[in-house]
Amino acid sequence: MLNWDDYHKEESTGDAAVAAKAAAAQQVAESPAAEESPAPVPAAETMEDTTSVAAPSDAVAAAAKAIEEMDVAPGLEELEMGAARVSVDEKAMINCRADLNQLVPFKYDWAWQKYLDGCANHWMPQEINMTADVATWKSSDGLTEDERRIVKRSLGYFSTADSLVANNLVLGIYRLITNPECRQYLLRQAFEEAIHTHAYQYCIESLSMDEGEIFNMYREVPSVAKKATWSLSHTHHLSDPNFKTGTTEADQTLLRNLIGFYAVTEGIFFYCGFTQILSMGRRNKMTGVAEQFQYILRDESMHLNFGIDVINQIKLENPHLWTDEFKQEVIQMILEGTQLEIEYARDTMPRGVLGMNAATMEEYLHFIANRRLSQLGLPEQFPGAKNPFPWMSEIMDLRKEKNFFETRVIEYQTGGALSWD
Ligand SMILES: [Fe+2]
Ligand SMILES: [Fe+2]
Repeated sequence: MLNWDDYHKEESTGDAAVAAKAAAAQQVAESPAAEESPAPVPAAETMEDTTSVAAPSDAVAAAAKAIEEMDVAPGLEELEMGAARVSVDEKAMINCRADLNQLVPFKYDWAWQKYLDGCANHWMPQEINMTADVATWKSSDGLTEDERRIVKRSLGYFSTADSLVANNLVLGIYRLITNPECRQYLLRQAFEEAIHTHAYQYCIESLSMDEGEIFNMYREVPSVAKKATWSLSHTHHLSDPNFKTGTTEADQTLLRNLIGFYAVTEGIFFYCGFTQILSMGRRNKMTGVAEQFQYILRDESMHLNFGIDVINQIKLENPHLWTDEFKQEVIQMILEGTQLEIEYARDTMPRGVLGMNAATMEEYLHFIANRRLSQLGLPEQFPGAKNPFPWMSEIMDLRKEKNFFETRVIEYQTGGALSWD
């Protein structure tokens, strides 16, 4: 914890050193030798090519002249475009013309709250102890072949899927969502996606896996490749720099892409792999990898809920987009995503493993699909589907201080706090 007193202490103990330095400088200046011979130049400086750079005094003068002659008109024009102070009524999720530099007043308090909650859940991959995992992975009887397949497939799918997600966020969604409090959450989400990619890379490196094999699975293993292809083809408008909203057709395209991104990619495609790895951790195997996935899942469930809120808000503000035909299209997207995840479950679980099999996973995915549909205000398509893995919901709601697998090696501190006494 930082304390202002520490700074005062440092300053007071530093007084003597400062005085000594000043005295030494004075001595050098007074010595006749100092006037005659130039100070020795460090070797690194003599090697630098300074011929193409202006002398320091010229550069300072040039900067001062540029500021003196600066034309502020274009900048002011830009700032005035938003017509002074923004009111809540002017704010909108898409196609908003109010000044986006003004965070407050908030229109969507839930977005700001999610930003705060995301920050409170901060974690880093290196905090998790991977020692037991390394021993298990290297041992010939640590895991069965079916279990090894699950670990590899999960890292293969997620390591590239999270990069795709991050690219869509920063290259597309951030630009197209025209609300500052939502953008604040998107910045947090983007950093979390970087942490997730880091976590997968950390697992792959710790276990000394074949990086080429794992990072190319999204192209080389059909059940993984199909999910990646679906996500790319249903979200590609997001990262197209020429894509603009503002017409019914374009706004529907954005909505379709947001549903492909949040409800299907983050809301369905992550669930088989997460359930498998977390089930492994519950059986005390690969607990480090499982703990990484546990924290990622907690972040992802917040990303998903944020995305659903954004989609529903766009629907509310633009009811003309949500036609019967469009609703049918969205139902089909959810069903396609569910089918691809069921295929992935069959490929990764040719037999029963870790207390589950492809059939129980199918039941779970039907339950998940119903949930996504009802979150979007659409009719459930798998009546009566039950959740065979109720422990998954518990893990998603996990509070930071409860350590499920107890493998963390570093106490996390949420930044320095200042004490005023
Ligand atoms: Fe992620
Ligand atoms: Fe995410």
